[in-house]
Amino acid sequence: MYDEELTTLMIPGPVPIHPRVYRAMSRVIYGHRTKEYQTTYKETVGLLQRLLQTEQDVLLFAGSGTAAMEAAIANAIEPGEKVLNVINGKFSERWQEITTAFGAKSELQEVTYGQAASPEAVREALASDASIRAVTICHNETSTGVLNPAKEIGQIVRDYDRLLIVDGITSVGGDYVYPDKWNFDILVTGSQKCLGVPPGLGVIWVGSRAWKKIDTRKQPNPTYYLDLVKAKKRYDSFGDSPFTSAVTLMYGLHESLTLMFEEGYEQRIERHRRLGRITRAGYLGMGLDLLADPAFYSNTVTAVRYPGGITDKEFRNQVRNLGILIAGGQGPVKGKIWRTNHMNICTERDVLATIAIIEVVLKRLGYDVPIGSGVLAAQEQMLKESY
Ligand SMILES: Cc1ncc(COP(=O)(O)O)c(C=O)c1O
Repeated sequence: MYDEELTTLMIPGPVPIHPRVYRAMSRVIYGHRTKEYQTTYKETVGLLQRLLQTEQDVLLFAGSGTAAMEAAIANAIEPGEKVLNVINGKFSERWQEITTAFGAKSELQEVTYGQAASPEAVREALASDASIRAVTICHNETSTGVLNPAKEIGQIVRDYDRLLIVDGITSVGGDYVYPDKWNFDILVTGSQKCLGVPPGLGVIWVGSRAWKKIDTRKQPNPTYYLDLVKAKKRYDSFGDSPFTSAVTLMYGLHESLTLMFEEGYEQRIERHRRLGRITRAGYLGMGLDLLADPAFYSNTVTAVRYPGGITDKEFRNQVRNLGILIAGGQGPVKGKIWRTNHMNICTERDVLATIAIIEVVLKRLGYDVPIGSGVLAAQEQMLKESY
């Protein structure tokens, strides 16, 4: 029986939402220019700053994560400037598309899907081309389940005095992300992943070097809605946003961030890491191959290669009919992998149920695996974990 409302979302966003967040979102709408709402808004920004361990600006837009990506490039990069787009998946590729959409030149550094971006290759590119003004990376490549070495790349980009623009859409709130300490200049994220809120909010952290670049643009800023200068001015003066805020989602984000700190920041990250280890143990226990390089496993999403003879559509449909929604692959790995998340309020219960159901479906479709081997391996991993 397929029932949308009873289906567990194991796709890498949108993710299941805590009931307290739903309740917070059921509050009546306050006027978006009232002192009361501005207090909620400022508290929410404060909680995001606490999460990112920063005192620098965090701005929010009603829009998905891609709106924040677009704001980053459109404001900080001018037409004709060169940007090094490091691509190892579908989402890092989006930076290239936005770069060229705003008339900047894209220098590509392509890495095979499943491999991580290479700090050394970034160093070489910057050393050999002084005209590169900025570098883009995706911290946690959701399309491949790879966690890129953002901190190491940050150090190199800073050494060469260029800007580093980072997509943290599936790492912020689920893994360590320190934009100041790691020498980022812009970091973006979205509400529907590890922040645990429905889709619809784009979040952007802007560091002082990025502001300097934005404030000294030679060409007019092509944005209107996504104008970061306007957003900062409004926030600094009034503690809200220039245009009507997504009031309901802000209530949700405030509650979700409150929950995060109730769980404890370190505890939350460790839970994501633990669930990543249990998920991987389960898949490997079934004799499956993971797409990501083991040295760079993501802690929030796992990508698994299909064994021979299993078709993506049939497999995911059967898993869905048993109550669990999972994601397929994108770009060159479309039809070759599936992906499951371990984000936000995900627990061992969700992971074990997912592994158990996947095992049954694979068996039904002809994959030769001793039934229970994945669940057993996941349980054995649980026994190794400290709770
Ligand atoms: C790493 C990453 N970047 C960008 C996006 C796009 O975000 P949105 O769909 O919120 O625009 C996603 C969505 O899955 C993502 O995982």
